[in-house]
Amino acid sequence: MKIIIYGSQYGTAKEYAQELSIKTGIKAMDYRDMLDVNSYDVVIYIGALYAGGVLGMKRTFNKITDVTAKKIIIATVGLANPCDKSNTDTIKKNIKRQLSDDVYENAHIHFLRGAIDYSKLGLKHKTMMALLYRKAKRLKDDEKTAEVNALIETYGKKVNFIDFDALNPIIDEME
Ligand SMILES: Cc1cc2nc3c(=O)[nH]c(=O)nc-3n(C[C@H](O)[C@H](O)[C@H](O)COP(=O)(O)O)c2cc1C
Repeated sequence: MKIIIYGSQYGTAKEYAQELSIKTGIKAMDYRDMLDVNSYDVVIYIGALYAGGVLGMKRTFNKITDVTAKKIIIATVGLANPCDKSNTDTIKKNIKRQLSDDVYENAHIHFLRGAIDYSKLGLKHKTMMALLYRKAKRLKDDEKTAEVNALIETYGKKVNFIDFDALNPIIDEME
């Protein structure tokens, strides 16, 4: 049996999970409601990126007992552009730190682009972004990575990079 699990704070990762659910007929569930991940043999996890962490991912995969019997697909949702290899390398490095070796080695990783509306952010996230922005602005031009430039360009705005076509490679992988 297959399951789509999502970790989403403001709804973007949830939108991707629900669209994937419609396209495939597989049930999508919030990671907070996921009780028995071990009863599924294909687990698709769609999680939003927060300061490098994938929301809910660690908690979900820590519960898995036998990884080898499962197919694991992880898709991150973030603002950093996944067409830039330095961004995806950073995300992969962060995922590796958050998972056990056997889960990481078994996982097929995909990258989706999300959205942000600064006017909707909670105080904690607003403060975090303000600190990151101030730090980013102080960097010299040659020190600014693609991720840093994306943060500067989108700071304070409402931007939406959601692209449901980016789900197609995930659907292919699930077959
Ligand atoms: C405090 C904060 C930290 C973030 N950190 C990252 C990050 O490390 N990498 C990234 O690509 N996007 C980052 N983002 C952007 C979110 O991943 C993006 O807005 C995503 O679409 C949120 O998903 P959600 O709506 O499902 O919560 C961050 C956003 C906030 C507010």
